[in-house]
Amino acid sequence: MIVANVVGARPNFMKIAPIHRRMLGSKKLKPLLIHTGQHYDEKMSKAFFEDLQLPEPDIYLGVGSGSHARQTAEVMIRIEQFVEEKKPDLMIVVGDVNSTPAAALAAVKMGVPVAHVEAGLRSFDRTMPEEINRIVTDAISDLLFVSEPSGVENLKREGVADDKIYFVGNVMIDSLVEHLQKAAELTVLEEMKVEPGRYALITLHRPSNVDNQEVLQQIFYALDEIQQQLPIVFPMHPRTRKMIAAFGMEKRVAGMSNLRIVEPLAYLPFLRLMSCAKVVLTDSGGIQEETTYLKIPCLTMRKNTERPITVTMGTNRLVGMNPEDILRGFSEAMNGFAAKAEVPPLWDGRASQRIVETIERLF
Ligand code: UD1
Repeated sequence: MIVANVVGARPNFMKIAPIHRRMLGSKKLKPLLIHTGQHYDEKMSKAFFEDLQLPEPDIYLGVGSGSHARQTAEVMIRIEQFVEEKKPDLMIVVGDVNSTPAAALAAVKMGVPVAHVEAGLRSFDRTMPEEINRIVTDAISDLLFVSEPSGVENLKREGVADDKIYFVGNVMIDSLVEHLQKAAELTVLEEMKVEPGRYALITLHRPSNVDNQEVLQQIFYALDEIQQQLPIVFPMHPRTRKMIAAFGMEKRVAGMSNLRIVEPLAYLPFLRLMSCAKVVLTDSGGIQEETTYLKIPCLTMRKNTERPITVTMGTNRLVGMNPEDILRGFSEAMNGFAAKAEVPPLWDGRASQRIVETIERLF
């Protein structure tokens, strides 16, 4: 049977990689890798394919950037054409980026069943584009593969039938477990001139943080204070770079001598930097999970999280965007608040195996 594995943006690649690879070794399944092209920069896309040893996509749809409606619509049109030509028996979508509900919607309307990996996560904040993407995708998917217990509860509350829900664990952790050793061979710490356990790592790209001048300035106020105590490595998303320029903040940012801004990093160097950091600051989703597995304190600059287990069991703290709260979180991280954290259930490197075995059994 033909399985279409769809990816679009950076956080999708490490989720599909272990699933796709396992399917390539299956006698029953013939996987096709479809890249929508939502992320297209070499550093946002190709570098990840190389680090994750993903083969070249079988089909590249080249949708590129655009407004939400345009991007979603382009993915739908091109996925529809792909389905018409290749007639897959199942489509797998991962995560919560615009490509996810777009591909799912085009497929189900053509009678192709859809499996959603990382289903059921909810921030309960409908101003987040990702929350809408999660709700829509889950509502139309036939199989829901869930990474943490809250996802099962959320789906049941929304009326999803029990026999569609599979708690399989976290595929992103599969990739992490598989690549940690290889990442340890890199010299990225030396290149960034930082020492293990003696730097902070930050990522920041969410529109609600970087498209708002006041919020972005507040965050940089906190970063200014932090970099006076600890060097910060900041691989910067293209959107964030663009907004710093648009708000005329370049000079102020350049004046922070202990803040090292670099281009977005590939998977392995980022993994290496994350695993050796004293603390990670982020507004990403997946990094909250990766730091929990690595037992590195994580300060999430958001008001909510769709991944509550990282807070209740793991090393994550929601600090919001207010400088005082960020700085309080930072000093608590320096004092070791994350020492008692645990790894959530089924984050054991075998989630993709459970997914592929379930699909082989059901189809
Ligand atoms: C997308 C996801 C977000 C995820 C993030 C990871 C949605 C709604 N959002 O956000 O959940 O956390 O990816 O990075 O799907 N750009 C480039 N080069 C690229 C891609 C984007 O320069 O390869 C720039 C463009 O100016 C583009 C902007 O970044 O307009 C935003 O890209 P887009 O894919 O719309 O969303 P992200 O902010 O990357």
